[in-house]
Amino acid sequence: MSCPRRSFISSAGRAVLFAEITPWCVGWLPSADPKSAVSPVGLVRVTLTDYPALANVLGSVQVTVSATSVIYPIILTRLATNSYAAVSSECTHSGCVVNPFAPGTNSISCSCHGSEFTAQGVVLTGPAELNLTTYPVRQVSATVLEIQVPGIGFAVVATPLETSTGRRLRLTFPTDVGFRYEVRMRNEVSGTSSVVSFSLTETGVLNQTTFNGTGADMTLWVDASIPTGFLSVVRF
Ligand code: FES
Repeated sequence: MSCPRRSFISSAGRAVLFAEITPWCVGWLPSADPKSAVSPVGLVRVTLTDYPALANVLGSVQVTVSATSVIYPIILTRLATNSYAAVSSECTHSGCVVNPFAPGTNSISCSCHGSEFTAQGVVLTGPAELNLTTYPVRQVSATVLEIQVPGIGFAVVATPLETSTGRRLRLTFPTDVGFRYEVRMRNEVSGTSSVVSFSLTETGVLNQTTFNGTGADMTLWVDASIPTGFLSVVRF
């Protein structure tokens, strides 16, 4: 498999907004070599079936992102069968929240003073003079999109260890109150992920699957004997 070094985080939409930290290519981790992942980019994962309007070309929705830092909702528009545009809903005139794309006017409009933008956020009509902020969006499966959003990520330090119970990976990262966390693994970049059980001690039983953020750093251990795969810490 290809194991590119990417890091990303994500956050939530109507119901599903998970903040994913760095996916580690476990099989590539040199022993005893800590890897620090600073994730300035959050990854918002959107399940298309949660947004029926996106079943149609030019369908457009407002996706609310649950993050520790304030972020305007995202306007997500289907441009074609497999093409989407994601822009910030923050109007560049005076900061009102713009409306989703309307096929009738062929624009994203702002109700405050009448500015209009294309689905890709380009100014059509003022008073706004600047385009809306755009976010990269990619389709990772038939039903899932990922939108990259700067500034809502978090960092993870991953350290491989040889323990008396086998090879493990120690993960340390900051947590926030009000969020739930899981560790997830997927075999391919675009594959679906599954929950990974972890231990709260270096040699403990790997039987934990979720925990609530406390506002303090969290350290946990997972099995690292698997040959390859992308490991992520996910924040809900
Ligand atoms: S805030 Fe949007 S047009 Fe003024």
